[in-house]
Amino acid sequence: MKTPTRNDEAIQLLEPFLAADPRHLAAFDTSPMGHEIPLANLIDPTRAASSEFFDRLGVLDGLTFGPEGMPMPRWLFYEASAFTGGIFGFAFRVETLPADLRVRLRLADDATGLVPVAMYIAIPADPPRVWYGHNLASLNRVLPELKLAGLASITKALGLRCFRCEEQIGATQWDSTALHVHTKFGPLGLLTAWTPAHAFTHSLTYRLPVAEAGLRSAMGDPDAPPIDRPEPEFEIAADDHDAMRELQRRIEAGERFVITGPPRVDVNRVQHTPVAVMPSA
Ligand SMILES: CC(C)(COP(=O)(O)OP(=O)(O)OC[C@H]1O[C@@H](n2cnc3c(N)ncnc32)[C@H](O)[C@@H]1OP(=O)(O)O)[C@@H](O)C(=O)NCCC(=O)NCCS
Repeated sequence: MKTPTRNDEAIQLLEPFLAADPRHLAAFDTSPMGHEIPLANLIDPTRAASSEFFDRLGVLDGLTFGPEGMPMPRWLFYEASAFTGGIFGFAFRVETLPADLRVRLRLADDATGLVPVAMYIAIPADPPRVWYGHNLASLNRVLPELKLAGLASITKALGLRCFRCEEQIGATQWDSTALHVHTKFGPLGLLTAWTPAHAFTHSLTYRLPVAEAGLRSAMGDPDAPPIDRPEPEFEIAADDHDAMRELQRRIEAGERFVITGPPRVDVNRVQHTPVAVMPSA
């Protein structure tokens, strides 16, 4: 039985897909939470016929990460995504899309097949159970007429289950709206708070222990068990680089912190992310 989501209407119209090396398929759950990936939607990156599908993943990435200044080079979809890890997502069939949307999604008049509208990309960080999630994209905000609310959260939840991930590492920016999504899964342990090794120094690195309650809650299952969250002790404002550097100094000195829940957005549209101190290991 499919675990319900907060947007079953959209999920019924969409088809799940997985792009991964067929030699790794046994490592994946191809029916995550009952959302079965049809055999025809298992995309083999080593076949030339998959080229068009990867073109379309590039369009999805360009429409979402492009404006964020972080579009992925094409080779990364192969080397650090489908071949070494997996790309799980949801797609429409071209035939179901209205003509104006086909133009916006750069589809040829005679295009057929799957058009991805959301993807979660992860690669093993400490195989087989620790994965690094490096791309989460959804066209919900870009194409509101498709009514895809909740799609990134649903995609990440089912992607984590598909990859059989038990601990997820990720990096994001303190001003990223994606923090609203990642925090739905539970408290996020902070590994870095200021990250000069990343192209964006104001990135944080987090560690998420993946739990059933977090997955079901994030995807909007009304019967999801509650998530335990510590009380926040302070906030990091997305424009306060000094606070990020100071938190990084404390992390490097051995203190432990978690992001406890979703950011608060103030009247100037600045995000404030709640943080709690954890007992040291
Ligand atoms: C961020 C992104 C993945 C969200 O996709 P989505 O399908 O709209 O996400 P969801 O609907 O599952 O959840 C978004 C949550 O953020 C909240 N949110 C708050 N402010 C927001 C904003 N300015 N923009 C988007 N979401 C916002 C939404 O209300 C929603 O929470 P809710 O479900 O409690 O209402 C998508 O906009 C995207 O692809 N952005 C560009 C790429 C990116 O930044 N990826 C993440 C990298 S770590």
